Amino acid sequence: MNLITQLQSMRDLPDEQLHSLICDESATKALAAAADLVRREVYGRDVYIRGLIELTNYCKNNCYYCGIRRDNREVARYRLTHQQVLACCEQGYGLGFRTFVLQGGEDPHFTDSVVCKLVDAIKTAHPDCAVTLSLGEKSKESYQALFRVGADRYLLRHETANACHYGQLHPKELTAENRKRCLFDLKEIGFQVGAGFMVGSPYQTAHHLVEDLRFLQELDPDMIGIGPFLPHHATPFAHEHKGSLTLTLRMLSLVRLMFPHALLPATTALGTLHPDGRTLGLQAGGNVVMPNLSPTDVRELYTLYEDKISTHAESAEGLNALKEQVSLAGYEIVTHKGDVKRK
Ligand code: 5AD
Repeated sequence: MNLITQLQSMRDLPDEQLHSLICDESATKALAAAADLVRREVYGRDVYIRGLIELTNYCKNNCYYCGIRRDNREVARYRLTHQQVLACCEQGYGLGFRTFVLQGGEDPHFTDSVVCKLVDAIKTAHPDCAVTLSLGEKSKESYQALFRVGADRYLLRHETANACHYGQLHPKELTAENRKRCLFDLKEIGFQVGAGFMVGSPYQTAHHLVEDLRFLQELDPDMIGIGPFLPHHATPFAHEHKGSLTLTLRMLSLVRLMFPHALLPATTALGTLHPDGRTLGLQAGGNVVMPNLSPTDVRELYTLYEDKISTHAESAEGLNALKEQVSLAGYEIVTHKGDVKRK
């Protein structure tokens, strides 16, 4: 039995054992070491980079955790223009980025036709690049239109697989059922799909995290985004506790062990929670980082949570600093498209 098959038996662990590992603070380092072996077997030392372009901070939704929720009147709203987005891609391309992630709130301005034009223009200018969209819940027809015009990947975190917990994090217009429907639609259409969840969100229990892992097994996504919950002062969760660093790292490692081939970002939220968060995330099984390619003047307006890091190694201009950080951690940034390696 090779290493992966051995460690992958993680998939078959019963719920109770997964639950104990999730709760076992003392298992953090051992899980990271095992996860790192598996990531090296599949991806070697490679770390993939994605240029994150924060398209709009307008949002029609009112999620209780999110700083750009509709009811937050404190934030100045912005939308990038078609030209601004293309300029971001141009700059990113020069820096070595071959994946552009367009992320934004659910902004009615960005209709299918507006986004399709944008995707088409990016793919025409940079046919050797992947375009990832992260623009929330849409109808299957809309997703199909975006796929037809050339979008390659779609990120939509499921946030929590438990319907009751989902209801504690979102207003009633949003349901776990519809979120899951979107994810299965995206997969069926042919997108490389990313799901994921926050660690330490209000009311979350270790049982919910087991359910998250089981949901991921059912969906079998290509990418899994996991980061700590961080409170934002202008939300109903302003006074809630932030997610724990070590629990986030254990969840990353468990996910790497259960999904050896997954693309797993060491998230900005993890880097915001702890100065070494991104490095620790890579050493716990992560293999992707997503530096910020947005125009510098809008970065502080895209605040999903407090104190979001957006300078130095987190930004695209800081790519050299990031390369240095990643290489000190024992890995290497590579600048190809960085598709998932499927079995
Ligand atoms: N803390 C951490 N992550 C958050 N997100 C939104 N708000 C917060 C927060 N307060 C995450 C959600 C969303 C992704 C884009 O950012 O999981 O899917």
